[in-house]
This record gives sequence, structure tokens and C-alpha cells, in this order.
Amino acid sequence: MARRGRRAALGAAGASLMLLAALPAAGQTATEPGIAAGDRKSGRDFLAPETRAQQDDLSINPGMLWVEQGEKLWREAAGAGAKACASCHGDPSALKGVAARYPAYDARLQRLLNLEGRIQNCRLEHQRAAPLPYESQALLALTALVAHQSRGLPLNVATKGPARPFLAAGRAMFFTQQGQLSISCAQCHDDNWGKRLRAERISQGQPNGFPTYRLEWQTTGSLHRRLRACFQGVRAEPFAAGSPELVALELYLAARARGLPIETPAVRR
Ligand code: HEC
Ligand code: HEC
Repeated sequence: MARRGRRAALGAAGASLMLLAALPAAGQTATEPGIAAGDRKSGRDFLAPETRAQQDDLSINPGMLWVEQGEKLWREAAGAGAKACASCHGDPSALKGVAARYPAYDARLQRLLNLEGRIQNCRLEHQRAAPLPYESQALLALTALVAHQSRGLPLNVATKGPARPFLAAGRAMFFTQQGQLSISCAQCHDDNWGKRLRAERISQGQPNGFPTYRLEWQTTGSLHRRLRACFQGVRAEPFAAGSPELVALELYLAARARGLPIETPAVRR
């Protein structure tokens, strides 16, 4: 596409994005791009004090409504075998630490599963119940419940062995310039974090708070919903929530965030 036409189509909002694009591109740095372990910051660090307080104080954190709903669903029998999550797993706290290792490769299913995918699989295979669609309130609630058990624990996904090709695919996507604006994830979240983009401050794009309550959404959403919003922000056609492409990207994000504490449910503007 002609550059001139593209710029003309952008308008004022697009112009600030083009400025970002003109800053050094990730591919141009001599050393390995990315954020050194000591410089990794949670999205929490970029929040206004009142939003941060809302995240930290669980008695006023709106995302806790989903965790509480998840606790109810956890104990509800469902499907052909009339089993609840609790029938097999006991108390939700038994899954403490699990969220820190996801996405993970499942050798039996020969698939990379994120937490949502794992819960969907338990629902189908172990409960033999109606599927929980991605982004449904029930799946968000159960995912928030399971991830919340690991609140404070550092992300620590496996990236070797069978996870390796998925990591490579996710990484490639992170550095690929996307959409009509032709900007990669890295150009915003590696190269320009801390800067302002219109009303927002760009964070490092870390995945450690999901599912997250977002004030703009007036609801809790998955990481994949957030990723789709970023794809749309650069006018790219986003992959579907739950698609293998986004699960691979999620693995790269989790590897890139290694050591950051899980903060589910996070609160964002
Ligand atoms: C009939 C028993 C059974 C039921 C019911 C069940 N699961 Fe599971 N779950 C398993 C087994 C077995 C595994 C190990 C992976 C596998 O073989 O599927 C597992 C694995 C998991 C894991 C990953 C644990 C890890 O260490 O990686 C999560 C999370 C999970 N289940 C959540 C749920 C949730 C949420 C529900 C309710 C919607 C549920 N499970 C219902 C048997 C069950
Ligand atoms: C034009 C700049 C831009 C691009 C390109 C972009 N994002 Fe974002 N992203 C943002 C902004 C702005 C936000 C909201 C404020 C924040 O948390 O950074 C955001 C939020 C996020 C978040 C949520 C962080 C949190 O703590 O809640 C993640 C994860 C994320 N982006 C990942 C990505 C990925 C992966 C890509 C590439 C597919 C991408 N972004 C592309 C600007 C961008």
C-alpha cells in the first residue's frame, strides 16, 4: 500500500501512532531486543494511584466478583457424570501455583493450552458438559478463580522441549509489524513503554494480571480480548480469542514476563 495514502487515511489519532513508528524499530537494535529481567514492570506500576488502590484492596476490587462467581461454579455439578470441579480437585487452593506455569504443552492432547483451554478441556473431557465458550462469563469466572490462587507467585512457564516451536511463533508475531499502521507489539511495549499515547500511558504489555477488570469495558476480560484490542489499535485483523496463534503469543508474553508476580484480578482503566 502506498505510504502517502496510508498516512492520509489516519487522521489526527493515527498521526501520533506514526510518530511512534518513526522511533527506533525493534529490529534495528544490535543487541537482543526485549526488556532485561531487572527492568520488567507490571502494568500495575503504570496505574494512577486510585486505580492501583482498587486493584490492591480486594474488598473494593471489582474483579473479585468474578472470582466469587467462579467459587460458586467450582462447586456446581455439571455434565453426564454430575461432577463438579471440586469433586476432582478439592478446594480451589489445591491449584495454587498452576497459573504460573501456563500456557503449557500437553503431550497427550499434543496442544499448547492456556488456562482457559485447560479448563475448557476439563469441562468437555472430565465433566462431559456443554462447552464453555471463550469470553463467556463462566469461563472468565473459573479462570479468574484459578489464576487468583497464584496471586503473588512469579510467572514461570516452560519454554524448552515441545514448547519451543510455540515460543518461536509467538515471538515472531511480537516483532512483526502489523496492520495498516505497520507497528509491531515490540515498538510500543519494548521500545516506548512509559510514554504517552493520547490519554494512555503505554506499559510493557505484561500478561500477569488477567483476567482483568477494565473500567473502559465495565467488565472483566481475558488476555485475548486485550490482545485483540491492540491488534485493532494498529488496524490489523485480529486472530480469534482462544486461537492457537494467540495462545502461542501468550506463551511468548509469559516467557518475557518471567518472574513478575501474578496479580489476578488486575484493574485497568
Ligand atoms: C473428573 C475429574 C475432573 C473434573 C470434574 C475436573 N477436572 Fe480439572 N483436571 C482433571 C485431570 C485428570 C487433570 C490433569 C490433566 C488431564 O488429564 O486432563 C486436570 C487438570 C486441571 C487443571 C491443570 C492442573 C495442572 O496442574 O496443570 C486445571 C486448572 C483444572 N483441571 C481445572 C478444572 C476446573 C476449573 C474444573 C471445573 C470446570 C475441572 N478442572 C474439572 C480432572 C478433573
Ligand atoms: C500503538 C501501540 C501499541 C501496539 C502496537 C500494541 N499495543 Fe498493547 N497496549 C497499548 C496500550 C496503549 C495499552 C493500554 C495501556 C497499557 O497497559 O499499556 C496496551 C495494553 C496491552 C496489554 C495489557 C497490559 C496490562 O498490564 O494490562 C498487553 C498484554 C498488550 N498490550 C500486549 C500487546 C501485544 C502482544 C501487541 C502486539 C500484538 C500489542 N500489545 C500491540 C499499545 C499498543
